[in-house]
Amino acid sequence: MLSRRFSIKRVVELTGLEESEIRYYESVFKEFLTFTQMGMDDNEFNEDHIEILNRIKSLVHKRGFSVVEVKKELKLTLKPFRVKSSTGLPPSKPSGYARVIAVTSGKGGVGKTAIAANLAICMAQEGKRVAIFDADLGLANIHILLGVKPRFNLSHVIQDDFSLDDILVQGPAGIKIISGGQGIREMANLQEEQRRVLLRQMDALELEVDVMIVDTGAGISENVLRFATFADEVIVVSTPNIAASADAFSIIKILLEMEPNSKVGFLVNMVENQYHSRNVFNRVNTAVRKYLKYSLGYLGYVVYDHHMQASNQIRRPLMFAYPESPSARCISNIVDTILRTEVFVNRRKESSFQDLMGALRRTMAEAS
Ligand SMILES: Nc1ncnc2c1ncn2[C@@H]1O[C@H](COP(=O)(O)OP(=O)(O)OP(=O)(O)O)[C@@H](O)[C@H]1O
Ligand SMILES: [Mg+2]
Repeated sequence: MLSRRFSIKRVVELTGLEESEIRYYESVFKEFLTFTQMGMDDNEFNEDHIEILNRIKSLVHKRGFSVVEVKKELKLTLKPFRVKSSTGLPPSKPSGYARVIAVTSGKGGVGKTAIAANLAICMAQEGKRVAIFDADLGLANIHILLGVKPRFNLSHVIQDDFSLDDILVQGPAGIKIISGGQGIREMANLQEEQRRVLLRQMDALELEVDVMIVDTGAGISENVLRFATFADEVIVVSTPNIAASADAFSIIKILLEMEPNSKVGFLVNMVENQYHSRNVFNRVNTAVRKYLKYSLGYLGYVVYDHHMQASNQIRRPLMFAYPESPSARCISNIVDTILRTEVFVNRRKESSFQDLMGALRRTMAEAS
């Protein structure tokens, strides 16, 4: 089958690069961008070219890599086989797998759980198949916000031979909820067979949904970080509070050290308005750019709104109880940004649970 072909104009649109820059990359990185195959002429590009150009762009613009460093990186990461998508853009991971988005923060109590739950509902209302993975060991659990009561958690899968389906609870708007519970701790010390079973089940779930939102605890504990780095994209939530922003910076630093391919987006909660939010974002992003050589995606903000607490009290999610409230509107805007813009799309990372289980796959391959 012939691959899809794109004109230079279309490549400019798809990559956001200027034509002159594309031509420059074409000459500098010609070993990765050969246009003579399959009888293509100089003005025809295929999906592989677009993916490679996007990678080059991100390495040069976001990470400040030199030509030599980019070449080294491309050699290391370019895989001979790639799944093609029908959209014309290469998928960020093998097609069919959910987009895994972790919600985390440096400081506790900044609104992660409230935001994770309402983002999930809003996405489900837009027709996405959504799962929430509650990976928070803390008390204020997501199921309370969603008004469901899971009897079982991951611990039962790990310890008692339950399947993931057995512990899955259907939440509002068809959201599938998995409660991590104590199982989160146990995940670190699984026997080989247990890991294998869990991984297979997680994989199956990832194929059944479009988006999986992971609500993590706060802070720099190993569990939190492990859950944040396995996601394709990480939302770091902060409030305008200086200490919260400083802790957000710390967690971003550690995340990027652990997983340089992370896509980190920043979201400011409990702000007065968008200007206030932009100020907070700029402050953190300036530090991140300067010290971590990384540019955060700006996902938007949620205003301080008493409807958030009110919905908590009546145990009905904000998006249902007060869909017209200022905070619910902010949530919709964030969903728009996540689903319909490139601000927060990770096109580099290809796996999720596989990452979480890290060397597991390799161990399995070696064993068989
Ligand atoms: N935009 C907002 N306006 C007003 N109150 C809010 C807002 N967002 C969250 N809250 C309130 O702040 C409190 C903490 O929120 P939440 O439990 O979601 O934070 P968290 O980051 O998940 O906390 P933890 O770190 O303990 O898991 C809750 O009472 C919630 O209703
Ligand atoms: Mg929470």
